[in-house]
Amino acid sequence: MKILITGGSGFIGGCLVRKLINDYRFSIYNIDKYGYASDDTGIENILKEKKNINYSFFKLNLTEKNKLDDLVNSIAPDIIMHLAAESHVDRSIQTPGDFIESNIVGTYNLLEATRSYLRNRVQNSDKRFIFHHISTDEVFGSLGNTGKFNEETAYDPRSPYSASKASSDHLVRAYFHTYNLPCLITNCSNNFGPWQFPEKLIPLVITKAINNQPIPIYGDGSNIRDWLFVQDHVDALLLCALKGIPGETYCIGGYGEQTNKYIVNRICEIMDNEKSLPSNHSKLITYVQDRPGHDKRYAIDSTKITAELGWMPKYGFEKGLETTVKWYINNYSWCKKILEKSKYNGERIGI
Ligand SMILES: NC(=O)c1ccc[n+]([C@@H]2O[C@H](COP(=O)([O-])OP(=O)(O)OC[C@H]3O[C@@H](n4cnc5c(N)ncnc54)[C@H](O)[C@@H]3O)[C@@H](O)[C@H]2O)c1
Repeated sequence: MKILITGGSGFIGGCLVRKLINDYRFSIYNIDKYGYASDDTGIENILKEKKNINYSFFKLNLTEKNKLDDLVNSIAPDIIMHLAAESHVDRSIQTPGDFIESNIVGTYNLLEATRSYLRNRVQNSDKRFIFHHISTDEVFGSLGNTGKFNEETAYDPRSPYSASKASSDHLVRAYFHTYNLPCLITNCSNNFGPWQFPEKLIPLVITKAINNQPIPIYGDGSNIRDWLFVQDHVDALLLCALKGIPGETYCIGGYGEQTNKYIVNRICEIMDNEKSLPSNHSKLITYVQDRPGHDKRYAIDSTKITAELGWMPKYGFEKGLETTVKWYINNYSWCKKILEKSKYNGERIGI
């Protein structure tokens, strides 16, 4: 089978590509514009060890419609997993236009390229095809102290990032209903794990702590996210892509609701226990001005994907967090390299 991944050089896409190389026998095609958060070191490391892997990388921005049309047609995929997107809320506050271009126009272009490709394919193949759109729980807005998002929750996005992802979800659903394009959508909670660009909360905190720099917590730190270890997420994604039903949505949560304050303190504790590092990292914690429009709480009810596809997280929050903190300590040179390449220095964005 041929599987086309968009955004395979990013954090979640990279984890997905590595899993496919290690555990599956697909031909893998990765389309990525190779933006500031992209890095293929993890994929290249595995390719050096493995023989006879059918992996191809194409550096292309999804906004380049004609080139994308030609590429999708020439690859002729059986599965498309669409992860390419601008993904950082703070950056969407600073430069919303980039999110409109990549997340909305990029998704529209990919849907159009797929529609045109499928017109030829249906005449020559009766093999299953699926377009799997990877989205976020942020499209559902913000929860109070109780309740959880599920597949029936109404959309209520509140940042330029979540609004752009919501728009792309609506486009995907429209293509399913209007053109019978076999699509499914997954909406997942906040991911964490190795190889994540150090601007998102967990790797940012770890790299600040390693450098003995102030560790920022937005507002009073009481905001809650349902943290999902990236390898657990990738297992869920592959189940959906291979066994999910076209037209359906699957919500993927980590069974890992935590406040930001708890996460930051827990990272400090794990680092305090590392013999190679100084102790008392929590003295670096500094409360800073809150993010504008900061959603209070996200939580996902994963009943459907568990009941219908049999998914449960294998790592879970605590084991995933320990694995992640240790990975960043042992791979700090990678963080330095990617931060230098991107010219990002851990500064606050989007106030
Ligand atoms: N990280 C999370 O916590 C999280 C949570 C829920 C959903 N998601 C979704 O999962 C997907 C992947 O997220 P991530 O954390 O890996 O993001 P990431 O920023 O690490 O990677 C995204 C990748 O997409 C590429 N990309 C962006 N715009 C593109 C374009 N116009 N053309 C081609 N490539 C482009 C980037 O170069 C990058 O390599 C996104 O769609 C995101 O919305 C992420």
